[in-house]
Order: sequence, then C-alpha cells, then structure tokens
Amino acid sequence: MLQDKTILLGVGGGPLTSTAVEVLRTLQRAGAGVRVVISAETETFVPGLTFRSLADGDVIMPGDLYGRMGAQDFHSLHGLVKNADGLVVVPATPALIAKAAAGLADEALVRAMLLHDGPTVFAFVARAAEYRHPLARHNVQRLRDAGMILCDAGVAETDDAADELGWNIAAATVVDAVAAALRQTTVLSGRTVIITAGPTQEPIDPVRHISNTSSGKTGFALAEAARQRGAEVVLITGPTHLQAPAGVTCVPVRTAVQMRDAVRQHVAAADVVIKSAAVSDFRPATAIADKIKKEDATLSITLERNPDILAELGAAKGNRVLVGFAAETRDLLANAKRKVSKKALDLIVANDVSDPAIGFASDHNRVHLIDAAGGVEPLPVMSKRALAETILDRVQAVLTQRQGGTA
Ligand code: PMT
Repeated sequence: MLQDKTILLGVGGGPLTSTAVEVLRTLQRAGAGVRVVISAETETFVPGLTFRSLADGDVIMPGDLYGRMGAQDFHSLHGLVKNADGLVVVPATPALIAKAAAGLADEALVRAMLLHDGPTVFAFVARAAEYRHPLARHNVQRLRDAGMILCDAGVAETDDAADELGWNIAAATVVDAVAAALRQTTVLSGRTVIITAGPTQEPIDPVRHISNTSSGKTGFALAEAARQRGAEVVLITGPTHLQAPAGVTCVPVRTAVQMRDAVRQHVAAADVVIKSAAVSDFRPATAIADKIKKEDATLSITLERNPDILAELGAAKGNRVLVGFAAETRDLLANAKRKVSKKALDLIVANDVSDPAIGFASDHNRVHLIDAAGGVEPLPVMSKRALAETILDRVQAVLTQRQGGTA
C-alpha cells in the first residue's frame, strides 16, 4: 500500500519527536518517499539535520514560512504538499492539534495541513491530564469531524509524571494508520461519484416557491469525503449557502426537473450515485410569470408530481452502486425497506426526521443503514461528516465485493 507513495511527515516537538524518525524510516522501508516539514518546537528535541539526512528531498523548516521564506520557497512548500498522497503528524502535540483544529496556519507545518487535500493522520500524544481536558477533547473531535484520522496511545494508567513519559505510541502503529488511510483512498480512487444535495425549489411565481429545510450539509460532507478518498465527484446541488469543496465539480440546480436533467447528463460516467437531496415530490402545475397579487390569488395551488429521480436511476441501474436516503416521520424501517427493493438500491440511509435536533439542517444525524439484503445497522448520533465517512465505507465494501477482491 505504501510502495511508491509520497508521504509528507510533519514533525512536532516533544519527548516523542524521536518516534518521528522511526516513522520516517518505517515508511521508507515500506517503499514510500518521505518529505518532511518540521514544527517550531522540533529542533528543541531532535536536530533538523537528522531529518535533512534521512528525508527524500527538501525539509521545510518552521521559520521558513514568514522568516527566511520568500515567495519562491512558499511555492516549494505548495509543490511539496500538492503531490503528497498522505500527511502524518508525529508527534501531534496538544498545541499542534489546537492549531490544526482552528486552522491557525502561523507556521509551515500547519500551512501544509491546510494545503493538503488527502488523508491526514495525527499521532496524538499528550500528558494524561491534557489528554482528558475538555478543550483537548473538543479539538480532537473537530479534527475527526473534518475527516482527519486520530491515532493515539490512549490515556496513561496514572497521572504520574514518570508514567506519562513511559506511555508511548509505536512507529508501527502510526505507519499502519497511514497505510489504512491510503487504502481507503484507493477503492474509490478514479471512480466517478454523483452526489445530490440540498433542497429543490419549485416556483409558484417569481418570488415564491415550495421547498424544504434541507441545508445541503449531508451532501456536501459526502462530496468532500469522497473527494478525499480519491473519487471524481460531481455534486449536483439545490440552493444552499455552502461552498463546494475543493476539487469537486459542482452543478447548481433549482428544481427537481433541473436536478433530474443534471443527473441524466452525468450518470453514464458514474460508478456510484448517492441521492441525499431532499427533492420536492410535487411542483405547482403552472408557475406564474408575474408576482401573484393577493387580490388575484385563489387560496389553492394545483400541484403535479415531480419525476422520482431515484426510481429512474434504479430502473436503469447497470453495475452502479446506488444509495438512497429516506426521510420518514413514522414506520421508518418498514418504509425505508420498501424503498430499497422498489428502487433497486444497494443501501438506504433512513432518518427519522420527526426529531428536529437531528436530520434536516442540523450538524448531526442519527440514522439506520439498510442494505440490499434487508440488513439493518443502527448508528449512534454523529456529525454529518462522520456519517459521510461511514456511508462511503459501506459503498466501498459493495464496490470491493463486486470486483471480487480486497480493497
Ligand atoms: O441537507 P441536510 O440539512 O444535511 O439534511 C439531510 C437530509 C435530512 C435532507 C437527508 O439526510 C435526507 O434524508 N435526504 C432525503 C430526503 C428525502 O427526500 O427523502 P424521501 O424519503 O422523500 O426520498 C427518498 C429518496 O428518493 C431520497 O434519496 C431522495 O433524494 C429521492 N427522491 C425523492 C423524491 C424525488 N422526486 N426524487 C428523488 O430522487
């Protein structure tokens, strides 16, 4: 998995900085090329010369960002990051974790984290008290929600100082986490994934429409996660306030019919379609060209059915992996199961939208995943980003099974 990969090693400063040297050598032994960015504290513990002697190529020094670094050097940091398959930070100290969680790019290493768009692994080490502190837990959760991988040694048995220095994180554990992160990228790598997101708006007149409260967060999280796993992502989205993730082809639409047209335009190339959009089932039979005056209006609007995009996709499914969503307020599992068989889905994400704290517009959701065989997997409340990762794990399992091999 690591053979011929390029790994960017970010080296933090602390008693476990020497572990970064071991990680560097272990990655190289596994066939990876390793480039290094060191942090402001690194050289207090291990001289930069050690990394300069061992790394494959330049080592970016911490002061280089705004100190000695000119525009040309910044381009070299950019170049160094751009071609990297993965980034691993060892040791990821509480300070680096906090800076990363805040996107505080005041040194080259954090800048590299922001520039990198592939998998990122943090080998998190801290003293037990710091590790347990709510602020540290909060920062770690923010990184997890952003799709980063945390690899840690766990909390030490006691808070005793001697013991703290005794606990450790093995280089092999860190390298395994990097390999696993890269493995995740390869199953979807180069595959085309269509994701629909957000609500649709069905115009009544030029200033009014029928819509729903979908924010697009779920679909955008899926798009970003799929992109980070190496997929070519086409994000077909109804109106939202969100910015499309980098590297994703974004196709903005307004109505269900426009969404269907966009899906039809891209579906031939797609290996996976994930329909997280909340599509209006109905639209006004006639959209009025001028704003309706209250004196002119009747109190009823005649509606007609919109096309069922997911059902159309299911009817012409081919070898594609098809994932639907179900938003229900009652009989969640029975209704969702019916949709799986009726629309030839490989997976449905069933959410009970009767609870306003989860689902529509919230940052979190609690869903059941139901597969083609009717197997039900209840998931706990989780961030939409974590949910996106879980859905993509299941998509990858279907793809892997279909190609009859291992990931
Ligand atoms: O956007 P967020 O704020 O993050 O909220 C996420 C969400 C709650 C919108 C999402 O989790 C969700 O449940 N999306 C599907 C909502 C929905 O339309 O459910 P449904 O049961 O009405 O539709 C079932 C499936 O058919 C969905 O995959 C939907 O995209 C699809 N559909 C529905 C109607 C239609 N005319 N065409 C379709 O393709």
